[in-house]
Amino acid sequence: MLQYILVLGSNLGEKEKNLKNAISFLSEKLTIISTTKPLKTPPLLNKNQPDFLNQGILIETKLNPAELLKLTKEVEKKTGRKINQRYGPREIDIDIAWFSDGKYKDDTLQVPHVFNRSRDWVKQFISELKPNALDAETNILYDDMNMKTITKIQDFTAKKQKGEKITVLTCYDYSMAKLLSKTSIDTVLVGDSLAGVFQGHKNTLPVTLDEMIYHAKTVRRGLPDAFITVDMPFLSFQISPEKTVKNAGRIMKEAQCDAVKLEGAGYLIETIKKLTDASIPVMGHLGLTPQSVLKTGGYKLQAKEKKEQENLIKDALAIEKAGCFAMVLEMIPADLAKEVSKKLKIPTIGIGAGAGADGQVLVINDLLGIDADFSPKFVRRYANLSEQIITSVENFCLDVRKKEFPGKKESF
Ligand code: KIV
Repeated sequence: MLQYILVLGSNLGEKEKNLKNAISFLSEKLTIISTTKPLKTPPLLNKNQPDFLNQGILIETKLNPAELLKLTKEVEKKTGRKINQRYGPREIDIDIAWFSDGKYKDDTLQVPHVFNRSRDWVKQFISELKPNALDAETNILYDDMNMKTITKIQDFTAKKQKGEKITVLTCYDYSMAKLLSKTSIDTVLVGDSLAGVFQGHKNTLPVTLDEMIYHAKTVRRGLPDAFITVDMPFLSFQISPEKTVKNAGRIMKEAQCDAVKLEGAGYLIETIKKLTDASIPVMGHLGLTPQSVLKTGGYKLQAKEKKEQENLIKDALAIEKAGCFAMVLEMIPADLAKEVSKKLKIPTIGIGAGAGADGQVLVINDLLGIDADFSPKFVRRYANLSEQIITSVENFCLDVRKKEFPGKKESF
C-alpha cells in the first residue's frame, strides 16, 4: 500500500461543500486516514481571484501516482470543476503533494509538488498529517523547514522573538528567483554585489540605480510573493535625505519590492529616518560596507579594536532607533555580532559575522560555487556548479561536433 498527502483547494461556489464532496468521492476508491481542518488562504501567483479554502488529507491506496492523478481528475470533474485555467479560480483542485515512495515524475505530474517547500500551509498540512515526512527532492524533513516565511517587516522581529533563524540569499535574475520560489528561503536581497558577480566590476561602485531596478524587476517576476529587499547603490543615498527618498521611491514603485537596504550610519541616520517616515522599510548594513572600499582600502575584517566595537554598537542602536526593521552585519568578529544581536530588538543578518546573528545571508553565486576562484572563509559551498556548467558546455560542444546532437528525440 502507498500513502499520499493530497491538498485540496476551492475558491468558487460553496467551497466547504466542494471539499466535503471531493473527499467523499475519493473515499469510494481509496482509504482516507486523516484530514486537516479546512484553512482559508490567499491566492498565490494569480492574485485577482477569491481566497481559497484548502484542506490536506492523508490517504492509502494501491494506485501508483499516475493512476491516482487520473482518479483526482475524475473526482474534480464529479465535484463540479468547470474551469481549467492554471492558477485560476476553480470549484475544486486536487494536488498530490507527497507520497511514501519518495519521488515521481512524468510529463504531467511531479511528486513532491514543486511548491510544497515555499507554501507555509502546505508544509503545515504535511507535518500535521505525517510527522517526520521527508521531502524526497531535498532529503530534508518538512518539520525542519520554516513553517512561516517572511511576508512583512513585522515577521522579521517576530522570528527573532521566537528564536527562529532568518534565512536570506541574494538574487539577481528571473531564473534564479524562480528556483528560489520552490524553496523555503525566508526572504531575498537584490544586493549591489551584482556589480561584481553579474556585471564583472571589481567593486560595487559602478552599478546604477536604473540597473538595480532592472534586476529587481526580473527577481520580482520569479518571486511574486516573496519579501524582496533591494540595495540602494553607491551615491543613490549619500547626497541628501530628499534625493534618497526619491531614489528609494523609484525602487519601491518600479521594482515593486518590499524594502531598501543602505550601508552605514552617522550622517545617514537622518536619511534612514526620512525614509521610514515616508513608510519605506529600511534594512541597515554595518561592519564591512563594500561601497566604502576605496576609503577603507579593502575587504577586511572590521571592528577588531575596542573603540571600533563600541562605535559599531552605538551605530547599530542608532539605526534601530531610526526605524530600520533589520540590519546586515558584515565581516565583524563573531562575539561582537552576538553582543549587537543581544542589544537590539530588530534582527541582525550576518555575513562573515559568526553564528550569533539572528539570521544569515550569502551571495547565491558563492553558495552554489559558480566562481571556482572565489571562496572567502565565511562562505559554505553547497554545490560546485562551475564544474557542472563547464562539463555540460564541453559535452554539448562534443555532441555537436560528433554530429550526435540533435538526435531523433530532439528533432521534429
Ligand atoms: O550586496 C550584497 O549582496 C550584500 C550582502 C552581501 C549582504 O549587501
